[in-house]
Amino acid sequence: MGDMEVAVEVDAAGVASVASERIAGVLRSAVARRGSGCLALSGGNTPRATYTLLGRRTDVDWSRVDVFWVDERAVPPDHDRSNYRAAKGTLLDAARLPAERVHRMPAEQADLARAAADYAALVAQRVPRGASGAPAFDAMVLGMGDDGHTASLFPGEPAVLVTDRFVADVPASGSREARLTLTTPVIQAATAAFVLLEGAAKRGPLQRAWAASGDPRETPIRVVRGCKGTVVWIADRAAAESLRIE
Ligand code: 6PG
Repeated sequence: MGDMEVAVEVDAAGVASVASERIAGVLRSAVARRGSGCLALSGGNTPRATYTLLGRRTDVDWSRVDVFWVDERAVPPDHDRSNYRAAKGTLLDAARLPAERVHRMPAEQADLARAAADYAALVAQRVPRGASGAPAFDAMVLGMGDDGHTASLFPGEPAVLVTDRFVADVPASGSREARLTLTTPVIQAATAAFVLLEGAAKRGPLQRAWAASGDPRETPIRVVRGCKGTVVWIADRAAAESLRIE
């Protein structure tokens, strides 16, 4: 296991401020060291404010940062549930990311297994490998659903156990659309993973995530406890005050 850090901020603005500062720092040092950086973005509501602050930062050479997605919903890129669209409106346009550095997950494609394999090949080609052999993103933004899911690894579904591919397709379930998602080995290879958490609804699943024992098939966010790099949990008080990692 790598390093775990926890930052508990007063509110959502504090979460965004700390997260954007830390992510910018990691990207700056990757660019200084290697000439480029790799960032993987989650969807959901929580990271939007962080992306907005990141998009305003001029201390990162965004022309040298490759942006990928942690997961994407099976909707067109202009759909209001598109994770690509959320990042474009907050971060990508403001930071003027060059189009060739923006690697959208094409989850609207009919053949999702094929789309997953193609995206895995792209990630394998563009992202340097870590010690485990999986691509190691410099910075990965993660969230956690109220049910303890992260990325599109949902409780009780098999995707969290996939280790033979870098990207998996996740079938639709109930009202939830199908997804593409990075898999556990890629999440665990991240050099720095930032888990953003806001609101009282995250408290129960966070307690399960931080308990000494538990099953990632029931609480998939627990996969980050197997990260080789640094995991930075950045939460507001409602989500995390008085909780402790066991
Ligand atoms: C997605 C996500 C997902 C998200 C959590 C938390 O596309 O749905 O990547 O894993 O991070 O559901 O979402 P909120 O930030 O909206 O609570």
